[in-house]
Amino acid sequence: MKIGIIGSGYVGLVTGACLAHLGHIVTCVDQDVEKVRTLKNGKVPFYEPGLMEMVLENVAAKRLSFTHDITRIVNRCEVLFICVHTPSRANGGADLRFVEKVAKQIATHLRKYCLVVEKSTVPVETGEWVRRTIKRNVRSGVHFDVASNPEFLREGSAIHDFLQPDRIVIGVSSARAEKLLRKLYGSLKAPIIATDIKSAELIKHASNSFLSTKISFANALSRVCDAVGADVEKVTLGMGLDPRIGPQFLKAGIGFGGSCFPKDLSAFLHISEQLGVRFDILADVLRVNDTQREYFVRKILSEMRNLKGKTLGILGLVFKPDTDDMRSAPSIPIVQMLQKEGARIQAYDCQATAKCRALFREVTFTDDPYQAAKGAHAVAVLTEWKEFLNLDWKRLRRLMRSNFFFDGRNMFQPTEMKANGFRYVSVGRPA
Ligand code: UDX
Repeated sequence: MKIGIIGSGYVGLVTGACLAHLGHIVTCVDQDVEKVRTLKNGKVPFYEPGLMEMVLENVAAKRLSFTHDITRIVNRCEVLFICVHTPSRANGGADLRFVEKVAKQIATHLRKYCLVVEKSTVPVETGEWVRRTIKRNVRSGVHFDVASNPEFLREGSAIHDFLQPDRIVIGVSSARAEKLLRKLYGSLKAPIIATDIKSAELIKHASNSFLSTKISFANALSRVCDAVGADVEKVTLGMGLDPRIGPQFLKAGIGFGGSCFPKDLSAFLHISEQLGVRFDILADVLRVNDTQREYFVRKILSEMRNLKGKTLGILGLVFKPDTDDMRSAPSIPIVQMLQKEGARIQAYDCQATAKCRALFREVTFTDDPYQAAKGAHAVAVLTEWKEFLNLDWKRLRRLMRSNFFFDGRNMFQPTEMKANGFRYVSVGRPA
């Protein structure tokens, strides 16, 4: 099938590359001329395992191309995906400016039937609003459909998530639209859940909110565990073996970040309020998440008493491993709080040093974890990069000035870390 992807950011590019990989002819559009040039030169502007190879392979096979000119795809594609950003507004609601602009551009140029699919995470009822926007601006007599096909891509495993999904959700309002989307995904072995458009939009809101709820539950639980001297890892293991609960997304630590959960949760809370529905759990999930960072910093302070003039080595800054994404990373407020307490920060991240230089003030970035620990009074792990599992702890300890070790991701075993000479503190686990 001939597919157009509008917006070549994270979601758009992964979707475009994977659809091309499935054999479709895909054109990705982006208004950012520089980004299009980068893509045409075979470079992907962010880090996602396997994506660059997939892009290159499909460009070479002439199944994937890039342009900044939306008019080049509108009447040449059977399906157009809207994958533009939907940033948060100050009140937590989603800013749909870019979606509106694209809907109007499609409408202005459309001359024959096309299925317009919203893939970006958008508030419930956006599909209907996009339909009305196109209807108002399209030539009379030109038919189109709008559908919702939310993405469930995790950064770091987005290609796997796209090609081996647990489910494919399609929100449609006509048999023709359903048939097109079933054909598009026909080669993937996954249940297709076909619903009305609003229900599909809500599946996305509900899934992300529920996953965030599990994380905040585990984090609130970690504080109770600390208070009584229990082990949150064991408690969540015992809970998760009940198939009604499940083991995933119960990992306590410093809370969730990234481009999706914080933004989507705020947007869903905002929508519920506008609809006059009290969904207080969502506000609590956000509150627990925000205060979990403070909780971690308080742990550091209660061990070290005073951070004035002390050096802290930070291991990992991105919001989770296998990405270079710093959006809403818990490391940002944590580093700021530590600096406010007078700490000097030297930090190492496996992927995001370049991005971090622009984000953090007065932080020294190092080329390896040992340099980050050199001369430090304490080390704090903020991202569970695999690379950290195999460090030479005795060597790292010898480089440090003192032996405090704060594990914000519960990556290591307390007994082992103590045997390596550290005063080891993690989240919700006895020392
Ligand atoms: C998420 C959803 O998983 C995906 O389906 C959706 O489409 C986009 O948002 P992503 O933001 O890439 O994906 O990351 P994810 O792996 O879900 O992790 C989100 C955050 O939660 C990370 O900061 C991670 O460290 C944190 N997390 C996750 C925990 O703190 N504990 C857990 O048990 C799981």
